[in-house]
Amino acid sequence: MPETPDRFPLPPEARALVLGSWQRVVPLADVFALTLYRRLFERAPHLRELFHTDIGTQGRRVFEALDALVGAPADWAAIEPGLVKLGRRHGYVGVKPQDFADLAWALHRTFEDILGEAYPAPVRDAWGRLLGAVSVAMIRGMEEMGDAAKDCDTARFFRTPPELR
Ligand code: HEM
Repeated sequence: MPETPDRFPLPPEARALVLGSWQRVVPLADVFALTLYRRLFERAPHLRELFHTDIGTQGRRVFEALDALVGAPADWAAIEPGLVKLGRRHGYVGVKPQDFADLAWALHRTFEDILGEAYPAPVRDAWGRLLGAVSVAMIRGMEEMGDAAKDCDTARFFRTPPELR
């Protein structure tokens, strides 16, 4: 069976960039997770009150979710339903579609903080595309659930504005 990378929202070259940068941060998982939340709350302090789990534990969960995502087979159709469900749970805990842009900002800053020049524009763009696809799927879950997203134009949040890239 040939691989079907075209079903994944990232072309193989972009996937390779994502994987390469991820392999560099895996040994620094704890630092990565803590930096991600420090950056997220720096950008959007109002989000702090949504979190009831300690940030160390929460950071590890998100790290593991990202790890599963970058290590997943190149078959988006297999991954998407889980992301839609995860999105629905996020809607229940009060996350809004617009919060994904803040998370994307925080994630890019975290990579820059840790990798410095080893996080050049093509790698950042590849992550931006992956996060875009993840967020679309998660926001779909929120929309299915109703209220949390009803006043929000999903497509608008998907064109991540340049200052958030
Ligand atoms: C790349 C996108 C994201 C991924 C992969 C992700 C992943 C996760 C995971 C794996 C959990 C554990 C709980 C569960 O399985 O239901 C979680 C919980 C949570 N996430 Fe996310 N998340 C993402 C985006 C966001 C965004 C944008 C926010 C906005 C603030 C957010 C806020 C939360 C909150 C509040 C919880 C519950 C924390 C608690 O238990 O106290 N997440 N997330």
